[in-house]
This record gives sequence, C-alpha cells and structure tokens, in this order.
Amino acid sequence: MDAFEVLSGGTLSGAVCASGAKNSALKLLAASLLAEGCTTIRNVPAIADLDAMGRVLAHLGVDVGRDGDVVSCDVPAEIGCDTPASLVTRLRASIVVLGPLVSRCGHARVAQPGGCNLGNRGIDLHLWGLAQLGAEITLEDEAVVARAPQGGRLRGTELELPYASVGATENLLMAAVTATGTTRILNPAREPEIVDLAGMLSQMGARVAGAGSDEIVIDGVDALEPVDHTVVGDRIEAGTYAVAGALAGGEITVEGVEPAHLALVLDKLADAGAAVTLGDRSVTVAGAPLRAVDVVTLPFPGFPTDLQAAFLVLLSQAQGTSMLTENVFDGRFRVVDQLVAMGADVSVEAHHAIVRGPCRLEGARVAAPDLRAGAALVLAGLVADGPTVVTQAHHIERGYADLPGKLAALGAGVRRLGAVEAPPAPTGV
Ligand code: UD1
Repeated sequence: MDAFEVLSGGTLSGAVCASGAKNSALKLLAASLLAEGCTTIRNVPAIADLDAMGRVLAHLGVDVGRDGDVVSCDVPAEIGCDTPASLVTRLRASIVVLGPLVSRCGHARVAQPGGCNLGNRGIDLHLWGLAQLGAEITLEDEAVVARAPQGGRLRGTELELPYASVGATENLLMAAVTATGTTRILNPAREPEIVDLAGMLSQMGARVAGAGSDEIVIDGVDALEPVDHTVVGDRIEAGTYAVAGALAGGEITVEGVEPAHLALVLDKLADAGAAVTLGDRSVTVAGAPLRAVDVVTLPFPGFPTDLQAAFLVLLSQAQGTSMLTENVFDGRFRVVDQLVAMGADVSVEAHHAIVRGPCRLEGARVAAPDLRAGAALVLAGLVADGPTVVTQAHHIERGYADLPGKLAALGAGVRRLGAVEAPPAPTGV
C-alpha cells in the first residue's frame, strides 16, 4: 500500500522543523563532482529524490555515504561521464550533472531527465547556454551528449537567459566555474537555492559574484577543492506547514527557515487572514477565519509555483472568490480534479484557477498526481469531514521528509499505510 491516511478534526499546534531544501541539496550533490576529494554536505533531507541523486553519483564513481542528515561524497580523480536512463528518468534534477561533468571531464552523456510530470519541462536553455560556452551538443539515443572544445575547457561568455530558469541557471553556473575567462549570466534565476549553490561553489574556490541578483558573474578557475557545506532550509516544506497552520491552527511555529525566503507567501497568508509572526529563523502562523486572496506564481521573489496547490486548498476554506494564476508550469492544476472530488468548488480556465469558498470538504480516496499536489491533498484531508486516503504517496516522499510524522507531532492524525519502500542499492543516500 502506497498511501497516507489523514484523519480530520482538531486544531494543530506546536513546532516543526523544516529540513534542508530538496531543490538545493540535489544541486549541491551534483556540485561535489567538481572537486576531487571528500565533500561533506549537512542538513540533507531524508527523501527519495536525494536517494536517486546519490545513486546517480555512485554510478559516476563517487563513494556516497550518509550518517543522519550528513552526506559525504568522496569523488575520485577519474569520474564517469555517462548517466544511464535507468537512473535519471525518474529525477528531472539529474540534468544538473551535465554542467559539472562537462566542466570536470570535458564531455558528458546524460539521458533525458524525468521527475514530476508538469506539462512541458524543456531543457533547451540548458543546452543553448552550454553551446554558447563552446560545447558541442548532440542528441543520441534520447541522451544529451555535450563535448567541450579542444583542450577540454569551456569558454566564458555572456549568457542572457530569455527566462529565469532555475535548472538552466544552475547547470550553466556549474559549467562556467572552470571555463576560461569570464561568464556573465544575465536574467538568471534568483531563488535562495541558487544563492546556496553559489555559496558552496565560492567555498570550493570558484569566483562567483551576484547570485540572487539579476546578473551572476563567474571568473573561471583551474580547479575546485572539496568543502563542508550546510544546505539552506526548505522554504517550500516550511511554507507547506505554514499553510497547515493557517488552515488548522492553533498556532504552528516552523523552524529552520529564513522568513525572507517566504516573504510573499507569508504576506499572502496574512492577507488571507492568518496571524503571521516572524522569528529569527522561524515563522509562526495561527489560524483565523480566512478570506479570499488572488495569487500569481512567478520566479523568485514571486510566489512559488511549488506552493500553488497548497494555496488552492487554503483558499477553498476562505470566504469569497479567489483567483490563482499559474505562470511557471503548464499542467500544474492536476490536483483540481482530486479537490473537486472532495467537494471543493474550483474551476480552471487556461492558467487560472477560480476558487469559491468556503466549502465543506469530504474525506475521500484521492491520488497524488505529483509531489506538491500530493502534499496539498494531505492538507485538504486535515480539514475534511471524515478520513482521507491519499494514494501514490511515493510522489510526496520524493520531497517531504516524514510528512506524516511531522504532522502527527503537531497533533494531526496522519499515518502511512504500509511500509516505506527501501531505496535500491548501491548507496544508502
Ligand atoms: C525547479 C524546481 C521546481 C520548481 C521550479 C520553479 C528543482 C529540482 N525543481 O525546477 O521544484 O517548481 O524550479 O521554481 O529545483 N523551461 C524551458 N526550457 C528550459 C528550462 C525551463 O522551457 O531549458 C521552462 C519549464 O518547462 C518550466 C519553466 O521553464 O515551464 C520553469 O522551469 P525551471 O525554472 O527550469 O524549473 P526546474 O529547474 O525544472
């Protein structure tokens, strides 16, 4: 059985700690490939996507180990440069090994990535940027092959991204750190996870300036050193618990997150009526009668698409009509059918969802269509009448460390039905 059972009723209260950010830790593991020797990464969440990235690195020859939330990546002098489809098709983020591998080996072959099925998720910007840096790009047997120019090093240049893609920014940043000369990435993604990656690369000896702003400047260096780095807190996981607080609080304090990384989300929660208090590295959210707000997803510092589904649930309990506009991914309203089956009044027109509330949700058997939508269905179950069973819980476990346990500690009746599948060999990460 691959499901979470959610019992409704009662307020939630207490403190919960966000894990390290999935979307940062995945890229930091990839960045470890850039330096021979043992890189230590702390605050790594215990989630399936990190297991998958650990297996990709192990396949490339890295000795990957985990002790609690500390992951060590012992990178040999010679690493593999070929990642097979069997390892990468379930993890879209695995495409970010492309940049480090071209940087380190001069060539790489990476199968086309998988991950959440969120409509059109191209990698054209990754490939365009690598080509601008001098790589020859070909597609062979559904794999991307990239070769640096003769001499094995990419050449720094100006890269103006037409869209601030998170993955493309990360890949190009990691490719450029050992390129000759200077690379400027204009209109890069500005997410906190990019800043975290740039911070680790700088620790490793890279010369990177401007991460988090509208221009990243990279002066290429010959080689990088292994480091000890701590992953930034997961703003999306933290935001999910903040929404739980607004829906079913009580009062929930979420620790281990920078409130500034959630600024717009917390503003929207306050606009919707929740009481929000900022701490040093925590936020406290208390439930209150909710009112409608409009939400528009955009790249950071805009409202994160990864919290769009959780807000759909929140707004289904708010007085009035809200409009939620999705600008980042198409195919990201697949949770709507499941919420409507629970009694929500939501209709979708193009990339807008119209939510009329408040409505009474009924517990039901629903299926998690993807990671964030799955977590949103668990939130819906918390305020529904009667038990809810969210099947396909493996989607949720890709990105949330022990969601049932953390919610149960806040007073919720949430449990996993059946055992968690052990990750396949060869690594415990
Ligand atoms: C990352 C996050 C994901 C988050 C998203 C936006 C990870 C592992 N995942 O995904 O959780 O929702 O950022 O904050 O970090 N696009 C192209 N061509 C490209 C690259 C992107 O068309 O070469 C499009 C995508 O199809 C999508 C949009 O740009 O519609 C956003 O993609 P991007 O910012 O690259 O997100 P990811 O890195 O895939």
